[in-house]
Amino acid sequence: PMPSLARLYQSYFPVGIAITPGQVMFGGNTQIAEQFNVVVAENAMKPFSLNKFGPGRYDFDAADAIVNFAITRGIKVRGHALVWHEQAADWMFYGSGPNGDATREELTERLHTYIRDVVTHFKGRVYAWDVVNEAFIPDEPGKPQIDGWRQSNWYRILGPQFIALAFKFAHEADPDALLFYNDYNTEKPAKRAMILQLIRDLQTQGVPIHGIGHQSHYTSTNPSDFGSLEETIVQVSNLGLTNHITELDISISSNPMTGSEPELTPELELEQAQRYHDFFSMCLRQRKNVSAVLMWGLNDDVSWLRNWPHARFDAPLLFTGEMKPKAAFWAVANL
Ligand code: XIL
Repeated sequence: PMPSLARLYQSYFPVGIAITPGQVMFGGNTQIAEQFNVVVAENAMKPFSLNKFGPGRYDFDAADAIVNFAITRGIKVRGHALVWHEQAADWMFYGSGPNGDATREELTERLHTYIRDVVTHFKGRVYAWDVVNEAFIPDEPGKPQIDGWRQSNWYRILGPQFIALAFKFAHEADPDALLFYNDYNTEKPAKRAMILQLIRDLQTQGVPIHGIGHQSHYTSTNPSDFGSLEETIVQVSNLGLTNHITELDISISSNPMTGSEPELTPELELEQAQRYHDFFSMCLRQRKNVSAVLMWGLNDDVSWLRNWPHARFDAPLLFTGEMKPKAAFWAVANL
């Protein structure tokens, strides 16, 4: 019989995946509940899913299907993501300001209303929220930014204060929820510095932040090891916060951007297993500071990398499309 990752890692941290409403609506694949004890909605809790059609028009059904599936099986739920530049409820950015933009007052009020309503809806069922996702891009000189801050609609209209506002509103709505800032490239020194600065700024302002989410979308060669991520985790912990690994996957390609799409040869599968081994070894070393590890998808066939940055082959997860455990699964299970 297949060992359960949730059980194997039970005394260290919960292990989980991102799921879709369809995957659980009719009871779900039994392996989801056997293998994992924390889940996150891959898309169903983003503003474009919950509040696409305008003020007060919420649709919680799909997200509730995920939450109810999880809660009845003793699985924890992470919420993802309250504030992001993508998959937003775009109507929020329009209003009575110049050029038809929302004014600062309008957007602040909508941010408040959205966070209050959504966090209240899931109160007591979602234990941790990604409050703000991907605000910093110091390592991407080609993209519009000011001092490393992404020029999103949030930043453009509200300025850097949008982060503090979002955390404050989330805490007001559910004082028991753990609140996270979530991002990719968190192992890179420039991004690390911005995240540490954000934490110190929020702490100075008395705004609660409890953890950093490290997306951890990696390729077959980048980063070459997980030492710099470990360094970020240690430094975050030194400021009194916890860490979640929120979206782990390890592409079999060295660069999905350039279109390289290797087949999953036995050699590549073993290389990938070694990388998963190294990653989970790091998490175990940091078990005092890492309090959840989630992978971004149920199996290779439904991975977002099959469509990103364009339709292509990849196999970045622990299970095949038929839910057969790959070498990477055994590497993680046998640690
Ligand atoms: C991705 C989903 O996996 C895709 O299905 C969707 O089309 C786009 O968003 N960083 C994040 C996640 O924080 O929300 C993204 O999820 C992947 C990158």
